[in-house]
Amino acid sequence: MDSLESYILRELLMFEGDYISGSALAKKLGISRVAIWQHMENLRAQGYIFEAVRARGYRLISKPDRLDAALVRAYLPLRNRPLTLTILDTVDSTNDEAARELAGGRTAPFVIIAREQTQGRGRLGRQWLSEPNGNLYLSFAFRPKVATHRMPTFTLWMGANLCELIANFCRISPGLKWPNDIYFGGLKAGGMLTEARLDADEIRDLVFGLGLNLHAPAGGWPEPLRALATSLEAQAAAPIDVNKFTAAVIGRMLLAYEKFVEGLPLGVLADMWNRHDILRGQRISASHGGGLVTGTASGIDDEGALLVRTDNGRIERLRAGEVTLSPRNKA
Ligand code: BTN
Repeated sequence: MDSLESYILRELLMFEGDYISGSALAKKLGISRVAIWQHMENLRAQGYIFEAVRARGYRLISKPDRLDAALVRAYLPLRNRPLTLTILDTVDSTNDEAARELAGGRTAPFVIIAREQTQGRGRLGRQWLSEPNGNLYLSFAFRPKVATHRMPTFTLWMGANLCELIANFCRISPGLKWPNDIYFGGLKAGGMLTEARLDADEIRDLVFGLGLNLHAPAGGWPEPLRALATSLEAQAAAPIDVNKFTAAVIGRMLLAYEKFVEGLPLGVLADMWNRHDILRGQRISASHGGGLVTGTASGIDDEGALLVRTDNGRIERLRAGEVTLSPRNKA
């Protein structure tokens, strides 16, 4: 997608419902009116509908409601314009594609989005249902200059930022389940998968993958997800503009990444996480390194470890593991 088309769209979106003249567009973008006309034709071919009226100019009548690279780019905050963004119809996994492109030398950061994944993955090798139904499957590729010991906090920090973005954008209240899930009540709406390649004690590159349910699949959630999954639209009880939302997610995630690389002041991560933590105060079991800890979840610390107060009053710090809410919390 020609980025000039994103600039044209940005102008049309600013004037949405009103006319903008071809010559004003041409002047602003420093290209000829004929070039503007050519780009408008390209956009029409991609499903945009414009009204063109002599002496008044162009007016945007309708835009695609599926993921569209020009539209996502047009909605991106100005500071993120240089970012390269690829939208694929289908791919095995956006995390795998991002890793392949990093290995091939593509300049980072960049974002890979797919309308469908044939081998979408979650943590612990689980499958991530990735039908082409307008849900979001995207991966960010980075080459961060940070020490490896900071990595356990990365997904948590990105998750806390994502949670705040979803809350503001959709006017709903998502929760975080340590270490990588977005929840509403007992239902999961999204997950994150961070995969880093390390060189000695340095991070060579890092892929941060994000799967977010915007809608339920057309035929409803298949078993066993029926009782476990939800979508942002179901929670908001309102449609979500996928292109605007995707741009907002990208903008917030890039900002969060920059702050992470600069270094987070002590307390900031734990404060932010603990505000959205759905486990805090709940009885949980956590399996980790072959062992099982049972107790009350008590938030995270600044190193991203989950704190569990056991029945004998000791605080266990879990750096990795799989958490299950105890049945009496679920009732
Ligand atoms: C989890 O809940 O365990 C994490 C799910 C992460 C899914 C996303 S979808 C985009 C990216 N590509 C993948 O294969 N996985 C992540």
